[in-house]
Amino acid sequence: MKTLLEMITIEMRGAFAKAGYDEDLAKVTLSNRPDLCEYQCNGAMAGARRYKKAPIMIAQDVAGHLQDSAYFEAVDVVNPGFINLKLSKKSVAAYLNDMSEEEKFGVENEEKPQTIMVDYGGPNVAKPLHVGHLRSAIIGESVKRILRYKGNQVIGDIHLGDWGYQMGLIITELKKRQPQLPYFDESFQGEYPTEAPFTISELEEIYPTASAYAKENEDYREEALHATYLLQSGHRGYRAIWDHIMHVSVTDLKKNYEKLNVEFDLWKGESDAQKYIPDMVQRLKSDGYARYDEGALVVDVQEDSDKKEVPPCMILKSDGAALYDTTDLATLVEREKDYHPHQVIYVVDKRQELHFTQVFRCAKKTGIVSPDTKLKFLGFGTMNGKDGKPFKTREGGVMRLENLIREIDDEMYKKIMDNRTVEAEEAKRTSQIVGLAAIKYGDLSNQASKDYVFDVDRFTSFEGNTGPYILYTIVRIKSILNKYQEAGGSLEDLVVLPAENEYEKSLMLQVLKFNDVFDAVYEEAAPHKLCAYIYELANEFNKFYHETKILSEEDEKKRSGYIALLLLSRRVLETCIDLLGFEAPERM
Ligand code: ARG
Repeated sequence: MKTLLEMITIEMRGAFAKAGYDEDLAKVTLSNRPDLCEYQCNGAMAGARRYKKAPIMIAQDVAGHLQDSAYFEAVDVVNPGFINLKLSKKSVAAYLNDMSEEEKFGVENEEKPQTIMVDYGGPNVAKPLHVGHLRSAIIGESVKRILRYKGNQVIGDIHLGDWGYQMGLIITELKKRQPQLPYFDESFQGEYPTEAPFTISELEEIYPTASAYAKENEDYREEALHATYLLQSGHRGYRAIWDHIMHVSVTDLKKNYEKLNVEFDLWKGESDAQKYIPDMVQRLKSDGYARYDEGALVVDVQEDSDKKEVPPCMILKSDGAALYDTTDLATLVEREKDYHPHQVIYVVDKRQELHFTQVFRCAKKTGIVSPDTKLKFLGFGTMNGKDGKPFKTREGGVMRLENLIREIDDEMYKKIMDNRTVEAEEAKRTSQIVGLAAIKYGDLSNQASKDYVFDVDRFTSFEGNTGPYILYTIVRIKSILNKYQEAGGSLEDLVVLPAENEYEKSLMLQVLKFNDVFDAVYEEAAPHKLCAYIYELANEFNKFYHETKILSEEDEKKRSGYIALLLLSRRVLETCIDLLGFEAPERM
């Protein structure tokens, strides 16, 4: 199904052609002046040079061929040569009825669906999730859903940080505390215990303690580095500890991500890429891409057009150890082998941009990925507190994600209980649903690459550009639809009728933009544009609601026409919030 903009552009092209002008001038856009018109075409201005003619004359010629068009209620020519368009109420209603028939409201699947991997989340095992990991999860989840909606095969991969120095630190600290454990007995031949020697809370205490101690104590640090090395070279006991760490951590991570409504198709990590490193290194050497630089193995990635220095990609340290660059390259080897993706998108803190520039260039240059594989860095800004500094707890420590979520949920609970429409039990559940929307919408409504201020008071407000406001609007629509059904009305086979008033028409125009807006959201991987769209849609709905008697409308036909529009508005809104990664409660 064509978008409305596509349809009226075709109409406009026809009019340009009939008037004897080039069709390519017939570009139609949304109006810059919604007070004057709904859509506009500025093609006459562009045509003035080509035809050495006053734009107003061209516009008049073209408009003359649109007077009978069924699409428009008004085609006005305005100085110096704008063509201002107002859609006819009938064609708007007809378009909305066509949209309702479509499962995806006229959004067409990609002609050639792609296999796209989204690398997001990226938590580090054994370290508690903190707010820094929140953005990646929220943005990545939404981007994944948006790409999928367009019919692509999208694979979300959490890419755990599960292979580094933090593992060596935990092993070392565990050895210090419980040296009698069989993992540390080099002569031990038996089966290691299946039960982990720590719980998740112990693990979360062990890591920071060890990390802090290592900074003070050189011997301890050396030992942890050595333990990391032994683990990576296959030490049996350490590998068994690693398995325990992974099991305990991943169980906990799954719980946390589930609460966030974030779901990964793959739970792979840095460790999975290790087995691809030796061959990859060998090939980079034998194909002449890698060179030694002060003992380290590197691949140059500087390009002539670079304004700034781009340092070489580091493949191996002088002691032979692999690095972050190495792991990301080997992960691409693995992804290429297992999935052969058309595109890999990394949703990572924008401060890591240089790392990804190096990795992408190296992967392309050395043929780790094919030349037409798209590697895309979707870098996000920092989540700041009200003081403009990276978000902290009240005490100034690193905010744990769980605590942040709890704080928001409590705030929502208070607000919902103040409204006193639901029982405490239901309010608890509802506050979690609304709380999540508050967090996610608060994040996603900002352009991802920008820093933003996490403002609990603002994000949890039921008014303004917030998640709770959007949900409140959806709940309001649901409640009207329920009442309509309770009074005996059916939601089947309803037809949207031509608008009765300006408010209704504005709402309709906003609903019908969905497929055009979605395409822009998709092209730019820009959830914030979807937020802007639903905010406006919610506003239009609420204006219509306040100005129109819906359920008390006496004319049954009119009433059912309103209900048809409400039903479609609800479906569009629910689709959008699902693409953003949250949902609406029944009541709030
Ligand atoms: N674990 C990393 C961190 O916490 C993020 C991983 C990002 N993804 C990647 N493929 N490097 O900083």
